[in-house]
Amino acid sequence: MKQELVLPRTLTKRQLVAVIHRHAAQLAKTGRIAQTRKYYQHGDCSVFEHCANVAYVSCVLFMKLGIEADWPELIRGALLHDYFLYDWHDRKTCHPAHAVYHPTLARNNARMDYELTEKEEDIILHHMFPLTIMPPKSKEAWMVCLADKICALTETFGKVCVRL
Ligand SMILES: [Fe+2]
Ligand SMILES: [Fe+2]
Repeated sequence: MKQELVLPRTLTKRQLVAVIHRHAAQLAKTGRIAQTRKYYQHGDCSVFEHCANVAYVSCVLFMKLGIEADWPELIRGALLHDYFLYDWHDRKTCHPAHAVYHPTLARNNARMDYELTEKEEDIILHHMFPLTIMPPKSKEAWMVCLADKICALTETFGKVCVRL
């Protein structure tokens, strides 16, 4: 469901984290996003923290560039982009083609729990481009695709921006 939100360019880190936290809390009311706290993504960073990081970095990049975005869709899409809901380090539970398949799985899981907009689906489905063939369609999805790669690198080296 589309929501209106205006983010000023001068938002502090604390304020932005609070906005992301509110969206995560809203998602937690009706879905399984709390489960993503128990699975690791990179290093000691959980999938939940990784998704919050990606939301944070995506917003910061838009704000630094002075480009407007559909903020709620950007944040929700980023928070749900790795909503595959299993431990990808565990061979018993991990999909054999996890790297390529998990965006579709995440979108399908997210669809079960939430009413997604077209842009939110775009963000989730295309965040692994160019590993997956289809490129993002919206600027928000392109930004999450970029932020995901930045966060994967920084988290692997022990830097986590957002602890919700
Ligand atoms: Fe992913
Ligand atoms: Fe990711």
